[in-house]
Amino acid sequence: MRFSVPTNAKGLRRWFDSRPQVVVRAGPCYDETGCVPLDLILDCDPGHDDAVALAVAADRGRLLGVTTVAGNAALEDTTRNALAVVQLLGIDIEVHSGAATPLRGRSANHAAHVHGEHGLAGATLPPLRTTIASNDAPGFLVETTKQHPHAWIIATGPLTNVAQALQRDPTLPERIAGISIMGGGTFGNVTAAAEFNIHFDPEAADIVLRCGTPLVLCGLDVTHQLLVDEVMVARLQALGNEFAHFCADLLGGYLTNIRALTGNARDAALHDPCAVLAITDPHLLDFAARHVVVETAGEHTRGMTVVDQRSWVRGGNVQWAQTIDAPAATEVILDAIAAAP
Ligand code: BDR
Ligand code: CA
Repeated sequence: MRFSVPTNAKGLRRWFDSRPQVVVRAGPCYDETGCVPLDLILDCDPGHDDAVALAVAADRGRLLGVTTVAGNAALEDTTRNALAVVQLLGIDIEVHSGAATPLRGRSANHAAHVHGEHGLAGATLPPLRTTIASNDAPGFLVETTKQHPHAWIIATGPLTNVAQALQRDPTLPERIAGISIMGGGTFGNVTAAAEFNIHFDPEAADIVLRCGTPLVLCGLDVTHQLLVDEVMVARLQALGNEFAHFCADLLGGYLTNIRALTGNARDAALHDPCAVLAITDPHLLDFAARHVVVETAGEHTRGMTVVDQRSWVRGGNVQWAQTIDAPAATEVILDAIAAAP
């Protein structure tokens, strides 16, 4: 079934609200027909939480491929990490690398203090048996969504690849189901005002937020409700499968780094899986339509998402995730990890 996606905010909201509901089952989630698994493409920069997001996407949807972008670490690291996680998951999908720098090409500050120098501190990666299918992530996004219209693009890193795909093919917003993004917030983490993914490439985020396709935004306000703690790490260790051991090491390392950084365990948020769950398990989150723009010029606020929270302003360009049922989301994540080899 094809949907025509309206381009004005009011129509967009009506379209989003009236779209057929995802059918959630034990196991993969299906589209509105109940027969076809949800088509997902994950654009990511693994990254501890990206790795978990990949596992959830592979378990809960039909993952069509993975594209990588520089962000948490340099592109060669995020790409190697994505290949390693795909291999550990035992799934047969392509990995395409993409942008090594933001659109403006400024030298980028990676997140070594959170994810380690190479992006997945704490875990040992296996020797790689595969390599990338191409280094043209935007091309893969364009072509794969032609073959699989109504796929969701899930973006858990800086938005450079997605923005380049939109620049290359202006018809992309009309054929996809939408883009679910981990990014932004009404507060910052990399600066007082800005969240890491948006701050890394604000110009790309600006292009994506204006593109007119249905957008779901999981900002820090919601991702800080889904936390990693010692109990979760112990449960991962107890699962017994190889991928769960990998995740226990991974999230143990993440917890250590976040503790060292903040001294406050409650900041160890599992950001990126939220953007997957918003599509595969939307009943776990609560959304509101909001107007969201990106500050690209501010002296102190570059990369900030300005979220219009005024109660009397209706509609908006995004479905803004407000809350997540963290205990239930944790169970879905643990189930996904347990289902891996
Ligand atoms: C985001 O930045 C990265 O460090 C995480 O992987 C997540 O995508 C949180 O701000
Ligand atoms: Ca990420």
